[in-house]
Amino acid sequence: MPRASGLFETCLTSNKHLIRWVEKMADLMQPENIHWVDGSQEEYDRLCQVLVNSDTFIKLNEELWPGCYYARSAPNDVARVEDRTFICSLSKDNAGPTNNWEDPFVMRRKLKSLFRGAMRGRTMYVLPFSMGPLGSPMARIGVQLTDSAYAVVNMRIMARIGLPVFAEIDKDEQRVVPCVHSVGAPLSPGQKDVPWPCNDEKYIVHFPETREIWSYGSGYGGNALLGKKCFALRIASNIARDEGWMAEHMLILGVESPGGEKTYVAAAFPSACGKTNFAMLIPPREFEGWKITTVGDDIAWITADDSGQLRAINPEAGFFGVAPGTSSKTNPNAMATLRKNTIFTNVAMTPALGVWWEGMTDEPPAECLDWKGHPWTPEIGRQTGATAAHPNGRFTAPASQCPVMDDAWESPLGVPIAAIVFGGRRSKNIPLVYQAFNWSAGVYMGATMGSETTAAAAGATGKVRRDPMAMLPFCGYHMGDYLRAWLRMQRTLTKTPRIFNVNWFRKDEDGKFLWPGFGQNFRILRWIVDRARGRALAKETPIGWTPYYEDIHWEGLDFAEAQFDQLQHVDRAAWKKEVIDHEDLFISLHDHLPPEMVYERELLICRL
Ligand code: OXD
Ligand code: MN
Repeated sequence: MPRASGLFETCLTSNKHLIRWVEKMADLMQPENIHWVDGSQEEYDRLCQVLVNSDTFIKLNEELWPGCYYARSAPNDVARVEDRTFICSLSKDNAGPTNNWEDPFVMRRKLKSLFRGAMRGRTMYVLPFSMGPLGSPMARIGVQLTDSAYAVVNMRIMARIGLPVFAEIDKDEQRVVPCVHSVGAPLSPGQKDVPWPCNDEKYIVHFPETREIWSYGSGYGGNALLGKKCFALRIASNIARDEGWMAEHMLILGVESPGGEKTYVAAAFPSACGKTNFAMLIPPREFEGWKITTVGDDIAWITADDSGQLRAINPEAGFFGVAPGTSSKTNPNAMATLRKNTIFTNVAMTPALGVWWEGMTDEPPAECLDWKGHPWTPEIGRQTGATAAHPNGRFTAPASQCPVMDDAWESPLGVPIAAIVFGGRRSKNIPLVYQAFNWSAGVYMGATMGSETTAAAAGATGKVRRDPMAMLPFCGYHMGDYLRAWLRMQRTLTKTPRIFNVNWFRKDEDGKFLWPGFGQNFRILRWIVDRARGRALAKETPIGWTPYYEDIHWEGLDFAEAQFDQLQHVDRAAWKKEVIDHEDLFISLHDHLPPEMVYERELLICRL
């Protein structure tokens, strides 16, 4: 059997288990070369050049977009593939009804056949990464083997990678999460590569007991950057359950008052519901001296400290944000973040080698190439309905470039969380904001949240789907047990964060949004902070505490009390239907459903 070159010559670890595993995987996948990733800038630049040479990357105009690259994926590889995502726990019951399960022995056999020779003609990168600041007691380490240089350079932005991570692994022979990734497109000798190699057949597989990830066939986002959804949510949720902490699909932000009081809030919204915008929001002009700072925009690892205070870290180091809709009006901080050293995927490219996407500017460019590389003009868009950017087009940008990153965003012990916010995209029924009566009612609130689906995942858009804590595609074990873990968490707390629900997306009968959203959400956030600190009033409704009109600071916004009442209206009949809908989820979780959820439901019905 031909031996891949470079295994020992350039090996960057002394960890015998790691070396043995790399050797074994190389024997299976038969790469032409092995590259141990050191994580340096020089290596990043070299890999970007490799990607330019293979037509995967186009270097953007250095004056307009310094250090930026542009990529187009294959049209059949544009989003996470939830129906191809598997949790292969030993028992089917441990995966629960919300995950695709396959028998781990059957799956291993399948993977062996898929991965046999999968890297032929390609380089296998050995990419060590830390989710969380290196050396933080909350950080965890993984090693991704991948035949995608695109995945490596994206991971360098999204996580801490390279030599310092190898050093950490070597220090105490640490346990790492092994992650195997192949685009599933081996090359025969002399065969010319395509710009975006991938395979029609895709498998995103997790083995929760052995903490392993195997991803085959896709080079895109969450399917390929394995530190993100696969590790930091699906595998980490398993580790967290076993160790008594929480891995959540949440942004983390700080609210700083003019007097310097800092309050941290974590918020769970389903994919593409504006988490990045909320994490970086700029308060309206009238709130001089107030500042929102960003700790993270997608994932939070949360644990109780010795004093019973919840603390959270952002395990990531970058933003993999949805580009369409991002503009200097909707999110100036994101625009400043992505101005340099950013990788753009599946957006449009202008003739001046710049990027554009729907919503970036009021006026579209007169002409550009769309995300498939076809000529696009506003007229073509009107005639064909084709957008220039794919709705799930993305930017990968370093968090350190965000102008409002919180001073403590890399703090090894995380930041103290005072409030937890849930929210979804709901055009009807759900008020702008309300507060749960207590922790267990808050868990019910999170468990039953729903959202109209978006383009972040393959499948139909615009349908309400129940998405407990925004974790439906990301919880790596039985959802009923996950709710139990949430309830159990309260026992470790002396100061329980207050729990809220928000909905920026309620519409009137004409389909117009009732709330302006974006920076105006600060007004709601301020009430949340005041409630969490026990200094704002609220009115009791059947579903929770809501603000009085006077409790919101309205200066600078012409928003009548009647409009606010419409936004906050609790339609009892509609809510009764909503509760019946909750039942579907609960029935599916039946024998694992914590009894507290049934009690909370009964209480809610009584109040309605
Ligand atoms: C994401 C998602 O990419 O949630 O963050 O889909
Ligand atoms: Mn997400």
